[in-house]
Amino acid sequence: MMNLVISKISGKETYPVRHPVLRAGRPIEDCYFTGDELETTIHLGLFIKEELVAVGTFLSNLDATIEQLKYHKIEQCYQLRGMAVLKEMQGKQLGKNLLIAAEQLLYAKDVTALWFNARTVAVPFYEKMGYEKISEAFEIENVGTHYKMYKSL
Ligand SMILES: CC(C)(COP(=O)(O)OP(=O)(O)OC[C@H]1O[C@@H](n2cnc3c(N)ncnc32)[C@H](O)[C@@H]1OP(=O)(O)O)[C@@H](O)C(=O)NCCC(=O)NCCS
Repeated sequence: MMNLVISKISGKETYPVRHPVLRAGRPIEDCYFTGDELETTIHLGLFIKEELVAVGTFLSNLDATIEQLKYHKIEQCYQLRGMAVLKEMQGKQLGKNLLIAAEQLLYAKDVTALWFNARTVAVPFYEKMGYEKISEAFEIENVGTHYKMYKSL
């Protein structure tokens, strides 16, 4: 697509997409994630004609309960959080573009595993991108049913 730019942004800059898509009707403070401001955290934004339409946040984090991460070092593992595309822009390959760009950026930093807690509705999207479900369904309070997912980069 024309005029598509993916670049690093700040944690706060993700809020205009995080808020309506992931925290609709909740206070703006709910858009903050622990670790947003860490130096190791990467926030990516996808812009179309200079307008921010999709975001994703990648945090250095190892979930010790994940069997597949057992032999990984902490610096090799990242967690995806806050993956969101503005409603009117969903289904246009933008999420896919953003995630591929993130995988390439992380891989270049020697990150070899990406994992996250996926909302049930987003599981098919991630499966298409090569991620696998690695847990039973579990509840996250105020957000809903999730599955842990993982991919070796
Ligand atoms: C989930 C989300 C990030 C996907 O981004 P998107 O830009 O809408 O998805 P894309 O257009 O890049 O889709 C890529 C592929 O996944 C498929 N896909 C996307 N969402 C899907 C869904 N819910 N069910 C089935 N397939 C889906 C697309 O059909 C497409 O397939 P193709 O490559 O064969 O054409 C986006 O829809 C979103 O923000 N949803 C609401 C918030 C959310 O649930 N975030 C995830 C929190 S874990």
